[in-house]
Amino acid sequence: MKKKFLNLFKQPITNSYLSNINKKTTKKEFFYNLSVVFDKKNYLVSLANPINPKKQYTNKYAHRASQSVTMSQSFKKIALKLQKKFKPSFSLEVGSNDGVFIKNFSKKKIIAVEPCSNLAKITNKLGYVTYDKFWNKELANSIIGKYSKLDLIFSANTMSHIPNLKETFDAIYISLNEDGVFVFEDPYIGSVIKMNSYDQFYDEHVHLFSLLSISNLLENSKLKIFDVELLPTHGGSIRFYVCKKSSKIKKSKRVIELKKRELKQKLNKLITYKKFATRVKKSKRDLLLLLKKIKKNGKRIISYGATYKSATIFNYCNIGTNLIEYVIDSTKNKQGKFTPGKHIPIKSPKNGIDKNVDYAFLGAWNFEKEIKKKEINFLKNGGKFITHIPSVKIISL
Ligand code: TMP
Repeated sequence: MKKKFLNLFKQPITNSYLSNINKKTTKKEFFYNLSVVFDKKNYLVSLANPINPKKQYTNKYAHRASQSVTMSQSFKKIALKLQKKFKPSFSLEVGSNDGVFIKNFSKKKIIAVEPCSNLAKITNKLGYVTYDKFWNKELANSIIGKYSKLDLIFSANTMSHIPNLKETFDAIYISLNEDGVFVFEDPYIGSVIKMNSYDQFYDEHVHLFSLLSISNLLENSKLKIFDVELLPTHGGSIRFYVCKKSSKIKKSKRVIELKKRELKQKLNKLITYKKFATRVKKSKRDLLLLLKKIKKNGKRIISYGATYKSATIFNYCNIGTNLIEYVIDSTKNKQGKFTPGKHIPIKSPKNGIDKNVDYAFLGAWNFEKEIKKKEINFLKNGGKFITHIPSVKIISL
């Protein structure tokens, strides 16, 4: 029932920034074939061959969610909203990263699960009990055995990373109180199709969710969706509010409305994804044409944000230091390293984009507003940004 519709070819693990470029490190670099399938039965979009999570979520995990002002604010807002709305006395976060969400809770009222031990260490040090383990039924049973069942489980940008969703959702079911709620958010396939953001496909995004697909999957774990929200974060995300099927919580009108919208967008039809794949090929052609033309005119191009998304683009389009001189990123532990696969050096933005740079490709296009504000002098001095969202174009002041 699973139909392959997109091939993004040989890709590295997006989080494996290289410290040095030499024969040994490049020989050791892990690549896999990234292709994407649509399940005609439950409408779920997934990677054809997800890689082993133990290779991805290690003690060297680089991403720090607190680094972005936009994300910090967004997590604070939802943390306060959920506490006000559901008044949970005991909560859990699955995939707590550097504590960007839980730090808005009292230390006694929330615990966390985070398989990357370097990150779990950060939140343990802050005083939040954090299990450096993968979320599954065994862990769920040991948590509820030691503490109690949960009123609230929250998870952001984690569910879509887990290959085995049945085990994951079953573990949620057994951990929730009778009227407990499970709130989770992840990038939205509806936005990917609309904005042609094919770079949302990378090793960590094992699935891209729709309301239609998640409704089908939760059904098998005795859970149901009672509310849903579309969010601007990560270039378009979806937040699900879930409870046990037996719960009396009322279903919001938003669920019915979004379902209608998704059916109109044909997120349940293979043809939608096939058409998207054709647009992806055009995006690649257009981006290469533009970058090569700019380079031919003797101009300098860098990239803004050593994002996982841009790893997909650079590897799929075969863009290396021949086209992009270097990447700037404010994350300290990415600086001085090289991007996976294409080995473009990553530098600190220091005082903004160097004034000799002419163009900056928006690797972090989902932070366009935040970046434009920060780099207003670059734009005022005639600098330009390049984006491929929703189609390849130049952005100037
Ligand atoms: P993300 O899209 O996976 O959250 O990654 C965004 C990356 O972009 C992250 O490494 C931080 C970087 N970044 C900057 O370097 N400067 C900025 O102003 C912003 C917003 C992000």
